[in-house]
Amino acid sequence: MSNYGHYAVVVLSVCIYGSLQLVPLPDYIHPCSELSDECFTKATLDAIPGIVQGIPEAGIPPLDPLLMDKNISMTLPGNLRMTFHNAKLVGLSSCIPDKVSSRRKKRTFVFDMHCNFTVTGEYSLRGRLLLFNLDTEGQANIKIYNQRIRLDVVERVVLNDKGEGHYKINSYKYKADYGTDLKLNLTNLIRGNPQISANVLQVLNADSQALAKDFGGPILDYAIDYAMNVTQKFFDTYTYDQISHVPLTEDFFEKE
Ligand SMILES: *[C@@H]1O[C@H](CO)[C@@H](O)[C@H](O)[C@H]1NC(C)=O
Ligand SMILES: *[C@@H]1O[C@H](CO)[C@@H](O)[C@H](O)[C@H]1NC(C)=O
Ligand SMILES: *[C@@H]1O[C@H](CO)[C@@H](O)[C@H](O)[C@H]1NC(C)=O
Ligand SMILES: *[C@@H]1O[C@H](CO)[C@@H](O)[C@H](O)[C@H]1NC(C)=O
Repeated sequence: MSNYGHYAVVVLSVCIYGSLQLVPLPDYIHPCSELSDECFTKATLDAIPGIVQGIPEAGIPPLDPLLMDKNISMTLPGNLRMTFHNAKLVGLSSCIPDKVSSRRKKRTFVFDMHCNFTVTGEYSLRGRLLLFNLDTEGQANIKIYNQRIRLDVVERVVLNDKGEGHYKINSYKYKADYGTDLKLNLTNLIRGNPQISANVLQVLNADSQALAKDFGGPILDYAIDYAMNVTQKFFDTYTYDQISHVPLTEDFFEKE
């Protein structure tokens, strides 16, 4: 490249840097100008299909499927120890927000939603199940239908040294309604005996509520923790003024 060309590139990139200090907000994010449930619910509904594709400029990877990079272990009744690894969660894009509310005095957002999830991966299982002493591993496929979730997120707005406000998640908690349907399929449950394996699975699946609690709980813990991490990345990238058109009162800010 000639010197002149090089100079032009430098000038251009300085201009772009100077005028685009803020990462532009994706067009599927529709900020609310009022604190109504209607607006927040609609905005969440509008945002989900876009966000699950990932937002590279915010460091957010695609979320559906979500590759679970940690082993998920659970202890089931009967001292049965189960671990999932190399697991993949499909379904975050299926989540439908039924109601999203802001409780501004408590600095809390409440999300009521329902989702369908499928988890596939490898499992290992050790312990006693019905009449069998198990020490086995194979492929797992778990389908969770219409899982209802209520998620409470406590957040505040923190001013950075440039004077920009950013949301920070203080804490979150969730409640899940395990009245939903869950189907569990495990290959090689009783080693070398597909017929008995199928029978045992049938017995397990007959009490899908207990199953949903035992299996669904650790999976939801992971998925929601992941989603909260992603949400914080989103808040770190975009300022309060970008994502909300509701003016903040002074007492809402905290200096970092
Ligand atoms: C995950 O589980 C697999 C199978 O049980 C095991 O080989 C692997 O070491 C575990 N990984 C971690 C990080 O615990
Ligand atoms: C979940 O799947 C069921 C059965 O396929 C379907 O009727 C329902 O609409 C789905 N729910 C969501 C939230 O995608
Ligand atoms: C469980 O998965 C295996 C292997 O993918 C399949 O052959 C079998 O039909 C499934 N069983 C049920 C009850 O879905
Ligand atoms: C969320 O972030 C925390 C802190 O960085 C980390 O310890 C945790 O493993 C993350 N959760 C998931 C599900 O990746």
